Amino acid sequence: MEELRDNGVFFTGDILSKNAVALLKDISIDSRIIDPACGAGNLLISVIPLFPEADTLTNTLKLWGNILYGYDLHHEFIKAAKLRIILEAKNRFDQSDETDISILESYLNNIRVGNIFNHSVQLMDMTHILINPPFTKASLPEKFNWASGSINSAAVFINFCIKHIKNETQIVAILPEVLRSGSSYRKWRELVASNSKGINISQCEQFDTKTNVDIFLLSLIKNQESGFAWNQIDSEKYSQVSDFFDISVGPVVPHRDKLEGTEYPFLKAKNTPRWESIDTENISERRSYLGRTVLPPFVALRRTSSPSDRDRAVGTVITGDTPVAVENHLIIAKPSSGDVSDCNKLLEVFKDKSTNDFLNERIRCRHLTVSAVKEIPFDGGVL
Ligand SMILES: C[S@@+](CC[C@H](N)C(=O)[O-])C[C@H]1O[C@@H](n2cnc3c(N)ncnc32)[C@H](O)[C@@H]1O
Repeated sequence: MEELRDNGVFFTGDILSKNAVALLKDISIDSRIIDPACGAGNLLISVIPLFPEADTLTNTLKLWGNILYGYDLHHEFIKAAKLRIILEAKNRFDQSDETDISILESYLNNIRVGNIFNHSVQLMDMTHILINPPFTKASLPEKFNWASGSINSAAVFINFCIKHIKNETQIVAILPEVLRSGSSYRKWRELVASNSKGINISQCEQFDTKTNVDIFLLSLIKNQESGFAWNQIDSEKYSQVSDFFDISVGPVVPHRDKLEGTEYPFLKAKNTPRWESIDTENISERRSYLGRTVLPPFVALRRTSSPSDRDRAVGTVITGDTPVAVENHLIIAKPSSGDVSDCNKLLEVFKDKSTNDFLNERIRCRHLTVSAVKEIPFDGGVL
């Protein structure tokens, strides 16, 4: 099981698969659709309703077998994917004209065991890439100019696909949220954008309840001429929170950090009153801590924040003279001026509808990130 997890083996849920398939454009029986990391074939199976069946089981599998392509490292997954597709076909006929499973499987020979990074040529013939790649951290398989060291494999898969498909091929991918909003993937986004047109980003949600990973759906058409902009918001051009505040995540991880060292007031999302000001003397909890503490004034911002919430950036101004231990469910905004009035102004900005609109555009997930908070428009002129 651990080995599977290390390879990023999580099966794509039915609803997510269907939503991804709904993004595919210009599908016909001449389409060639590949899932380069197909697992047991959930995504490929979700594509089948887009196609007709032929007059017999054999001809149906031959028809589908010309359209559906897949790779996976694991033999058992490929076997399962083929058998499930055969079952889908069988369900459409009262009688089978062929019962020999190995013959039926042979019609699906474009679904194969293999490492996609050794089969780039296959990608060239495809009209559509449909993929839910592994999200594990990986070292780069080849030299890229957009990153070094270790990186989320999903970024590597998409980069590889874009490089090897022909112009006008569509990619629909289920990807981890960090690729959409993480500052370390900015270059990756630029690279993707400069090779695509019609980028469409949708449906940010949790992958499933067990994995606790936020995802989004990406659809694009390869087009090397386009230079399409990924983010409409260009963070370089306006005055933003990071021009006036240091932004960081609260360092205390309650179940990990030992109760050692000096005792401090302990600020948690649960004991921080929304939209108010609280003096360190009135913080109800205390704990011992050896790590970094924060001296007021600062604004504490709840990290949990969903697009369905009325306010996405809910803050509290912290005042007083005592350093505070801050839980990692809070983001800290510490004014460079050291002035509490700047904290009050920031709270007003967080309350404003324009901040909600900005964050809903910038990050659709349930968690605010440091980079998203840094980029919230904040007019220095009012300070
Ligand atoms: C998130 S799962 C995909 C789930 C699949 N799309 C489905 O419909 O259930 C990722 C899959 O990628 C496979 N994989 C990882 N690295 C690969 C590689 N280099 N080439 C092909 N498959 C790979 C893993 O074995 C795993 O099954």
